[in-house]
Amino acid sequence: MTIREIVKSPNDILTKKTKKIVKFDQNLAKLLDDMYETMLENDGIGIAAPQVGESLRVAIVDLGEGEEPIELVNPEVLQTEGSVIEIEGCLSFPELFGEVERPFYVRVKAQERNGDWYELEAEDYEARAILHEIDHLDGILFDSKILRVVDPSELEEEVDE
Ligand code: CO
Repeated sequence: MTIREIVKSPNDILTKKTKKIVKFDQNLAKLLDDMYETMLENDGIGIAAPQVGESLRVAIVDLGEGEEPIELVNPEVLQTEGSVIEIEGCLSFPELFGEVERPFYVRVKAQERNGDWYELEAEDYEARAILHEIDHLDGILFDSKILRVVDPSELEEEVDE
């Protein structure tokens, strides 16, 4: 596994729509492993492939609660409900934090690294992280959704993303 450099904003790769994965091979496995290592190294709870320089529809979310990381290959949002405003950050914006409105609940379908489809439901902070990462895959960055910028001195402990 290789820790890769995080692509920081502004960079064109972060704002373009990614390509779907069609081959579930060793290259995909290596990309997922590298992304996971890179996310841990940077204390993130989520990472999207464009953030390591690959314009591919792949993301990982791991809230660090002892569960397996969620590998999202070719994810699609099936349903959302509710609305919550919370503080977010992003590995591609090291100094920026802000309040973003997101659904409270999300149901997504995605593929595993072997190509099997699965469905996932998530709420609250986990739903937020998943939707933040799927936005990355559509070239949408959280700064465009910030309702209020939050000074780092206002932050509580929960905000790495
Ligand atoms: Co991000």
